Amino acid sequence: MTTQEHLILGIESSCDETAAAIVAGGKRILSSVVASQVEIHRKYGGVVPELASREHLRQIVPVVREACEQAGVSLRDLDAIAVTRGPGLIGALLVGMTYGKVLALALGKPLIGVNHLEGHVHAVLLEAHAAGRRPALPAMCLIVSGGHTVIYRVTTEAVNGAEAFSYARIGGTRDDAAGEAYDKVARMLALGYPGGPVIDRLAEHGNPRAIRFGQPKIKGNPYDFSFSGLKTAVLYHVKRNPQLQPEIEARQQAIERGERGADALRALSTPATLDLIASFQRAAVENLVGRTLEAAAHYGARTVFVSGGVAANSELRRLFEAEAAPLGMEVYLPSRALSTDNAAMIAAAGHARLLAGERADASLNAEANLPLA
Ligand code: KG4
Ligand code: ZN
Repeated sequence: MTTQEHLILGIESSCDETAAAIVAGGKRILSSVVASQVEIHRKYGGVVPELASREHLRQIVPVVREACEQAGVSLRDLDAIAVTRGPGLIGALLVGMTYGKVLALALGKPLIGVNHLEGHVHAVLLEAHAAGRRPALPAMCLIVSGGHTVIYRVTTEAVNGAEAFSYARIGGTRDDAAGEAYDKVARMLALGYPGGPVIDRLAEHGNPRAIRFGQPKIKGNPYDFSFSGLKTAVLYHVKRNPQLQPEIEARQQAIERGERGADALRALSTPATLDLIASFQRAAVENLVGRTLEAAAHYGARTVFVSGGVAANSELRRLFEAEAAPLGMEVYLPSRALSTDNAAMIAAAGHARLLAGERADASLNAEANLPLA
């Protein structure tokens, strides 16, 4: 094994996924195990922090064991343990952090703290490197999920012969994250939880120009986002159109019966609802793509990264591809497995930090609001 082939165990527990992964050389995923809690939080329509912590506690040991088994690696073979420090739910973060620390101490291995958002950036790099591609930096990275909507400019410099990454925050949401808006709109329209995947599927069957929601007016930073106005506009639209109520109730009952698939919910949706869904999605996606590409152009980035659960959105992917090419920009959209929360991205980010000489000690702590830059 060469020095480039360090074996890193990544541990991630910042929100509602307990994840562990083994990554070799920062780019070869030997295993990536994700225990999702979506079934537990579904009936509440969002993540309940206390339930999340309790579930992480139940899952962390078997998930790490499974990651080692799938990779055919024993804990003694590891070169380092990388663990998410934040941002996230503090009780959830503490579970992964404590376990990572104890493992590192017991095994005498280096411990590396990773910012969850940095992990999302490395998810893109990891997949690109695994495919033999080397994205040109600086890159403009949009991280868009249920918890985050933020743009970072990503650069590297050589430190001790290794690449050290730096991040500058270019803009972010002033209120709701984009995924949160999807989930709230899905709740208003009785489309189940999480809302993104169903809205994505149903939007294809509506007219995205039926309702003009317009773009939010934000003073100050032109690369900031706002999604609460769009969410409220959908709410007003539903209130002004009481004829939508019977189908909302019918879908709610279907969901309670366990019929939450996109096809079942579509069969219970009129064209008026499908148009509303398509128009909401168009407004959200145009906003995300427009601002990210404007930021890239303004800061001279020819590479755009998109990461986080909402990066799975088909219209977002189409629009990024269509609009970036004429600007001479290359867009990296990772697979769904890597764009949603996972621990391979934490291991990859930890690998870069390991090469740059970073080591944490026992004072490393979880931080709910840990900034990346
Ligand atoms: O990254 P993720 O799995 O978890 C965090 O929030 O950290 O992202 C989940 C979010 C949810 O809000 C979900 O509704 C949204 O991503 N999402 C989507 C799609 N798939 C998931 N939003 C829009 N279109 C999708 N296809
Ligand atoms: Zn995330």
